[in-house]
Order: sequence, then structure tokens, then C-alpha cells
Amino acid sequence: MKLWGGRFEKTTDALVEDFHSSIRFDQRLYKQDIQGSIAHARMLGSVGVISEKEANELIEGLAGIFEDIQAGKVEFEIGAEDIHMNVEKLLTERIGQVGKKLHTGRSRNDQVALDLRLYLRAEIDQTKVLIERLIHTLLNLGEEHLETWMPGYTHMQKAQPITMAHHMMAYVQMFLRDLDRLKDTRKRLNLSPLGSGAMAGTTFPLDREKAALELEFDGVTLNSIDGVSDRDFALEFLSAAAILMMHLSRMCEELVLWSSGEFQFITMDDAYSTGSSIMPQKKNPDVAELVRGKTGRVYGDLMALLTVMKGLPLAYNKDMQEDKEQVFDAVDTIQKCLLVVEPMLRTMQVHRETLSRGAKGGFTNATDLADYLAKKGLPFREAHELVGRIVLHCSKQGIGLEDLNLSDYQALSPIFEADLFEAIGIEFCVRARKIKGGPSPETVAQGIQLSRQVLENLSW
Ligand code: ARG
Repeated sequence: MKLWGGRFEKTTDALVEDFHSSIRFDQRLYKQDIQGSIAHARMLGSVGVISEKEANELIEGLAGIFEDIQAGKVEFEIGAEDIHMNVEKLLTERIGQVGKKLHTGRSRNDQVALDLRLYLRAEIDQTKVLIERLIHTLLNLGEEHLETWMPGYTHMQKAQPITMAHHMMAYVQMFLRDLDRLKDTRKRLNLSPLGSGAMAGTTFPLDREKAALELEFDGVTLNSIDGVSDRDFALEFLSAAAILMMHLSRMCEELVLWSSGEFQFITMDDAYSTGSSIMPQKKNPDVAELVRGKTGRVYGDLMALLTVMKGLPLAYNKDMQEDKEQVFDAVDTIQKCLLVVEPMLRTMQVHRETLSRGAKGGFTNATDLADYLAKKGLPFREAHELVGRIVLHCSKQGIGLEDLNLSDYQALSPIFEADLFEAIGIEFCVRARKIKGGPSPETVAQGIQLSRQVLENLSW
């Protein structure tokens, strides 16, 4: 008989049994479910709702079930619906009548909200470690390439010369913000909903704070309806995960471009590339492409849960069972992507020569020539116009700004002097951008130091 079978005269239809059961996926929550039940049982004993002896029997029974599940000795039953009822059923089978006291003052509604919060908190902590590793690798790459000149782009057209370090540090800032978003999510989710019951709390004198403390929560939720119907914490996590994936995807898109024959800025290590079944010459950046592709899944997870939640009247509705697969999928996806992107970046070869050649072409120093004129007193707008004309002239000749003679320059404007050639040297252009946040090797080196400190002092 079902744990809730008392008011039913017929058994559940076989199709429904399969349809509404969540044990296939929510068994992943067994650890949190048992952890939560142990805290609940201990608290029930401490406030005298059950005896201390009974509490200990429940706790021991639950601990035994935990060990057996971990050892792969437990077969879950579809008929017992979900992880909560599977564990409770096992408990009663093992320790008898007293097992039936575990659910006193509790509902699966606050239980599942609790489990998901505990689960996400642990997975956020795990994700933090993976993001930190990725950031360290980017910082190391940055340190190695402080003077690896490369073209910077806007509109995918060459814009201004920068360094590989500067480019990598842009991603460091993004991933640091991702960490911050996860930290923020963690802070808001770290409240215990236990005691909310089905939706209207309970008449039992439960010590909500005591159970919360045992489960390392910062406090308890303040409204029993909200306690069981809130999934904001999962949505916040999915939003943070979607933004993280967007960052990974942009970076991977660049790696795909950069490893193409047209760019040849980098070569992926063989271990992080794959071949073609027909074209023998191929070495494809599949890993980076797949990360880019998997971004869609995580966006989908976020959209799915937002959509599940949008029309739900308070409080718990079974629709909310659909939260778990989305969350699990996003957790798996971001963690796998972070795991594989880090060594892919660490092992790729960076081709300094091609990068610095790329930094030179395409008039990337045109802004510097205009700045040169402006520094000598010509209003910037006029300088811009004049340099524009020089660029047009040079591009028709198929030469760069540095290839024009001083006399040609002076024919266009008497402001030009021999020092103009220094001002438009690529290396000079980069080194001169010492402005905070700019690409000069010394500012980027400082940025790397600062970011390392931020990482070391992350309070979680
Ligand atoms: N398996 C359910 C879920 O994941 C647990 C809560 C069920 N509560 C209920 N009243 N049917 O949401």
C-alpha cells in the first residue's frame, strides 16, 4: 500500500504510476534527503515530540540506509514514487513501527525544498572550485603572454593592437563575476524551509533553528507558504549557470576561430581535438564547439523552469517536480564544460609570430596616429578625418601607415614630425596604453596580481 493510501479505494493506474514517479531522477538527492531526515529526527527527539531513544533508532536506521545506497545495495521502487518515500519505506521495513514517526511535523513539500537547497549548495561549492581552476589557468596564460602582441577586434574587424594577456584577462573578469553570482545565489538559498510543512507550518513545537543549524544553514525561511513554493534559488542558480555558459561559449567560439587555417593564432593539443571519418587531414576543435553547443541546453534548463513556475498558484504544485531534471542537467553540463575547458586552454599552443603579424596589419595603429596629431594640438575630430584619408590612400597602395615616407606625411600636414613612426609602432601603441584596465604589459601585470588577490580572499 502507498504511504498515502488511506483515503483511496482503488490502486493507481499503471501508466500514472510511471508518469508521476520521480525516483528515476530524484534518487540523486539521497544524501541530502537522509541528511535532512537525520536533522529532523534529532530535532524531534530534542523537543520531546518523540523520545530520544526513538530519535536514535531513526538516525541509526537512516545512517544504515545511506551506507547501503552508497554501496549500491538498494534498489529503488517506482511504486514508492520519489526519494523521500523510498527512504521512509525502507526505514520502516528495517526498524519497524518507529520508522513511521519520522514524518511527524513534516511534509514532502518542505522536505523536497530542503533537499534541493542542500544539493545546490554543495554543487555551487563544487562549481566554485572548477571556476577557480579555470581562472588560475587564464591568469597563468596571461602572465606568459604579457608581451604577446595581437590584434583586438570590434565588429570582427581589426581594431587596435592588444596583447594575448589582455584578451585573456577579459575572460578572467567575466569568470570572477560568475563566481560572485554563484556566491550571491548561495547566500540567498542558504535558509532552511523545514518546518513549513505542507504549506501552513505545523502545530508540533518544532525547533526550526536547531535543525537549520545542524544542516549549516544561516537561518530559516520566514513564511511557510513561500518555504514550500519558492524555487527562486534554483532559478538564480540556472541564471548564473546560463551566464557562465555564455562566457564559456564566447571564449570557445574564439578558440574555434583562432585555430582555423585563416587565423592560425593557436593550435589545440591533439588530446583536445578530434578527427574526421572521411577527411584524413582534419583536426577539429570539437571540444570547444561542443561547449558552445551545450550552452543551448543550459539556456533551455533556465527557460524550462521559468516556464514551469510562471503560472503556479501558491503553494506547492506537482509541476514543481519538473525543477529537478533541469537543475541536474545544468549542474552536469557546467561542471563537465569547466572540467574540459581548463586543460584545453592550458595545453593549447599559442603562435606569437602569427599573432604579432596580425597585430600589425589592418591599420590597427590608425587611432594612435590620430592621437599623435591630437596630442600636437589638432582637434581630435580633424585628426580622425585626416588619418582616415591617409588610411584610404595607403590601402589603395597596399601599404601600411608605417610604410609612408615622412615627406608624404608632411605634405598632408605640417604637424607630422619624424617621431610619428615611433608613435605608430605596434609595441609602442600597446605599451603606451597604461591607463587602468588598459593593455600595457605593466597594467595587465597589475591586473593579474589584483585578480589573484581577489581569488585568494574569496569569502564564501
Ligand atoms: N517528488 C515530489 C517533487 O519532487 C516531492 C513532493 C511531493 N509532494 C506532493 N504533495 N505530492 O516535487
